[in-house]
Amino acid sequence: MTNDLYAVVGNPISHSKSPRIHSLFASETGEPVEYTAIQAPLDDFAGTVRQFFERGGKGLNVTVPFKEKAWKLADRRTERAENAGAANTLYLDDEGRLTADNTDGCGIVRDLVVNHGVVLRQARILVLGAGGAVRGVLGPILAEHPAVITIANRTVAKADALVNLFKPVASETALSACGFEQPREPFDVIINGTSASLQGDLPPLSPEVLGEQTVVYDMMYSLQTTTFNQWALEQGAQNVHDGLGMLVEQAAESFRIWRGVNPATGPVIEELRND
Ligand code: ATR
Repeated sequence: MTNDLYAVVGNPISHSKSPRIHSLFASETGEPVEYTAIQAPLDDFAGTVRQFFERGGKGLNVTVPFKEKAWKLADRRTERAENAGAANTLYLDDEGRLTADNTDGCGIVRDLVVNHGVVLRQARILVLGAGGAVRGVLGPILAEHPAVITIANRTVAKADALVNLFKPVASETALSACGFEQPREPFDVIINGTSASLQGDLPPLSPEVLGEQTVVYDMMYSLQTTTFNQWALEQGAQNVHDGLGMLVEQAAESFRIWRGVNPATGPVIEELRND
């Protein structure tokens, strides 16, 4: 039997862990999947996608900087992709329509709730950042019915815009926007969705947002502890996680969409952690 072809598309792409993760899923489940990495030219993402599916490819993951382009290119979008304004998963539906999904929000929720045992229902959550990464995960987090989501951002107008966008689906959640310095009491969960760590920067938060039980989650993942998590640890936070689990869980949800099979994520997270 020949393998079905999948790939991740980005630019640059050599650092991507997706081929490794999906190969591990394929061997674990016995699914006939071949998964490669494709670097699309910055000015021809659409052509790369078209060629891939014309060659018989079954599904694509999409990463930086093409997630919004993938969303625009699609003939149809799932509801969570619609809300996210960006897509990380593409496939052709039964009628051959290019379909966009977004599994990032599902990935972070599953990592928090299932892997780390964090209760989001009725939780008070502080979300840092208001860019594409945060927009991508807000819908699935709201679907867990937290009591509060405060979105803090350097540019408060962008946090305000996200509040307006998600108000209609935030029925039971008090959703609000502010600057980084404003929150001054402990939250149950703090999620860093800024890209500040990439520049070694820290959002200027008050340490008062950290309580003894606060769960700190940086959506970023790197071999070294992220700048944000380092700060949280220095303030005495006990429950600090990075985005490796989210990365594996979003991949697992794509695999599930494409193959209808549920890969076990725990061993894959462990294997990547030990790299
Ligand atoms: P992404 O797709 O990673 O979300 P983005 O849409 O460019 O990328 O958003 C980056 C986020 O990180 C934004 O919330 C940005 O703040 P602004 O909206 O004020 O630009 C935030 N960010 C980036 N660098 C930062 C820094 N050095 N300090 C604090 N926030 C930063």
